[in-house]
Amino acid sequence: MVTNRTFTMLKPDAVEKGHIGAILEKITASGFRIVAMKLTQMTKTDAEEFYAIHNERPFFGELVEYMTRGPIVAAVLEKDNAVEDFRTLIGATNPADAAEGTIRNMFADSISENAIHGSDSDENAAIESAFHFAGRDMF
Ligand code: PPS
Repeated sequence: MVTNRTFTMLKPDAVEKGHIGAILEKITASGFRIVAMKLTQMTKTDAEEFYAIHNERPFFGELVEYMTRGPIVAAVLEKDNAVEDFRTLIGATNPADAAEGTIRNMFADSISENAIHGSDSDENAAIESAFHFAGRDMF
């Protein structure tokens, strides 16, 4: 397992609002190297599998509907301490609690539409990256 990589998705709200360029600029300016990236749209089956760990939570249906309503940008990012540093960069799950200057503080409106995903562990980063990318598409 590569331990200095994390996985991200710019979620449908961020893409709809035209924030792809600004968010990628912030990510790369923060020292992350993009090692894989694509514009894609998850099916309901994809989203149910990707978020399966949350399937008992009350917002699961809403989360699947939101994540499948339009294109996302999926990417794999590399940096020392990538998982933790990226979670710091994106800010708290609820944008209302996200620190000044974090991506969710700048680009997200609500907990249910919070602009961006970041893996929460090295193990999940590897699983989530493999969900979206073949090995030959990660550089
Ligand atoms: S986290 O980031 O995994 O620690 O946060 P968590 O609270 O466990 O949330 C898991 C994912 O569910 C999303 N979420 C919600 N969606 C809709 N409504 C509500 N209330 C809500 N609360 C949390 C949250 O954005 C997480 O998605 P990802 O893609 O992992 O960021």
